[in-house]
Amino acid sequence: MRTLSDLFDRNRTWAAAMKERDPDFFLRLSQQQAPEYLWIGCSDSRVPATEIVDLLPGEIFVHRNIANLVVHSDLNCLSVIQFAVEVLKVRHIIVCGHYGCGGVMAAVERKGYGMIDNWLQYIRDVYRNHQVVLEALSGEPARYNLLCELNVMEQVWNVCQTGIVQNAWGMGQQLNVHGWIYDISDGLIKDLDVTVTNKAESAAIRRRI
Ligand code: CO
Repeated sequence: MRTLSDLFDRNRTWAAAMKERDPDFFLRLSQQQAPEYLWIGCSDSRVPATEIVDLLPGEIFVHRNIANLVVHSDLNCLSVIQFAVEVLKVRHIIVCGHYGCGGVMAAVERKGYGMIDNWLQYIRDVYRNHQVVLEALSGEPARYNLLCELNVMEQVWNVCQTGIVQNAWGMGQQLNVHGWIYDISDGLIKDLDVTVTNKAESAAIRRRI
C-alpha cells in the first residue's frame, strides 16, 4: 500500500472537527508555539503525551525514546531540552515513565535484543544502583514496577544535571522538573514526588534515590 488512505481520511476528519470547534485554531498555531511543558516519555504507543493529559497540539513539546532515558551524550535529547528551555522557555520538564515498560523489562531479562542492548545498558545501570532495594522485593511485578519508578527518578536527576538546566536555574529562570509514572491499566498518572525547582533541591533528590 503506497498511500495510507485511511490515515489521510482520519486526518481530514480530525482537521475539520478541530476547525469547527475553534475556527482560528490552526491559524493561531501556525503563527507560533508557546508550550509550557516539555515531556520526556517512552516511545511506547500506549503512552502518547498530549492525549493522556488531555491537552491540544501546541501545548506540550515532546521528546520520546525507548524507556524515557536522558543520556548525557544523546545530542537528540539534549537538543530538545536546550530548545525547550532556552528558546521556548518552558516552565516544566516532565519525565514520564510507565509501568510495564518493555524497555525496562528487556534490560532486566538480558535475552539479547541486538543493537538496542546498548541503549538498555543505561537501565541496567539504574538496576545496579538500586540492586539491594530491588532484590529485597519478592516477585517480578513489584520489582519491575519499582524499577520503572526508579528509572524515572534517575532521569529526573539526569535532566537536573544538564548544563542547560543548571544554567537556567543559575540565571533565575523558573523551571520545575517532575517525575511521573503512567499506569497503562487504568490510564492514570502518579506523581513520584521528586519535583526539583532549583539547584539545592536537585542535591536533595540525589539523597533520596
Ligand atoms: Co516504555
